[in-house]
Amino acid sequence: MKNIKKFFVYVGTPRAKNSNTLRYISNLLSEIKICMGDENLKINIFHPQNSFINKCLGCERCFFEGRCFQDKKDDMGVIKKEMLSSDIIIFASPIYFVNVSGDMKIFLDRISNLAHLLPLRGKAGICILSSCGNGVHHTLDYMNTVMSFLGLYVIDKYNVSHYTEEQLDKNPDYMKDKISESATKIIECLKKSSSRSNETLEIIYKNLKNYIENSKELNKNEYKYWKNNNMLDFKTYEQLISKKTNKNLWNLK
Ligand SMILES: Cc1cc2nc3c(=O)[nH]c(=O)nc-3n(C[C@H](O)[C@H](O)[C@H](O)COP(=O)(O)O)c2cc1C
Repeated sequence: MKNIKKFFVYVGTPRAKNSNTLRYISNLLSEIKICMGDENLKINIFHPQNSFINKCLGCERCFFEGRCFQDKKDDMGVIKKEMLSSDIIIFASPIYFVNVSGDMKIFLDRISNLAHLLPLRGKAGICILSSCGNGVHHTLDYMNTVMSFLGLYVIDKYNVSHYTEEQLDKNPDYMKDKISESATKIIECLKKSSSRSNETLEIIYKNLKNYIENSKELNKNEYKYWKNNNMLDFKTYEQLISKKTNKNLWNLK
């Protein structure tokens, strides 16, 4: 049986056809397809022009009931299922006023509760930004934190800049170099079965486990979810992700 690798990509640009970010992502994925063979990959790219996501209404039912009532009214239900069944998760965004775009933030707000349930644990994450170079460190740090809180093992994070003299004039191959460097990291990660934990993820798991145990009266359902999925049984995140448990996104009750 073929071992098809699945990619989930969310690109938070409002400019689909003309998007720098989307153009870069397409080039990166084409490079990966060339190396791994088209037939071995399944790629799902979502962005605001091919999917509709309502903004979070702040009811917090996702935290207490494990589901967002908007998931059936927009495309988030489908998007979450795709994420759950993918091996590689890519979040890509243009930088708008020194942070991720509003579209990316709307998407992230709608998956906030996944940071309490960790259904994406064990998957690899990549964060890609596109900008003129302002606010890169801050935004990459933010996205790295978001991905880590989701339990994702971040294998690469970088900004692709389109306007700087250095990248366009002095090094016209910048895009090509960046693409092959990133594609290599992704392919290596898919091929080898090394640990997908690190110091950050270990701290996050430890703190979250404490929080879930200490707030079992406040949020019985999240506690039950952790208990039923044996997620409280491990000392380390490494141990948790090496064990196959039922990663159900929705059924807290
Ligand atoms: C409203 C707005 C705000 C922006 N703010 C920044 C910024 O703070 N820093 C930066 O480097 N680039 C900024 N840019 C430039 C974009 O990040 C850059 O053009 C990016 O490649 C656009 O990606 P897209 O074509 O995929 O939407 C901004 C662009 C817009 C439209």
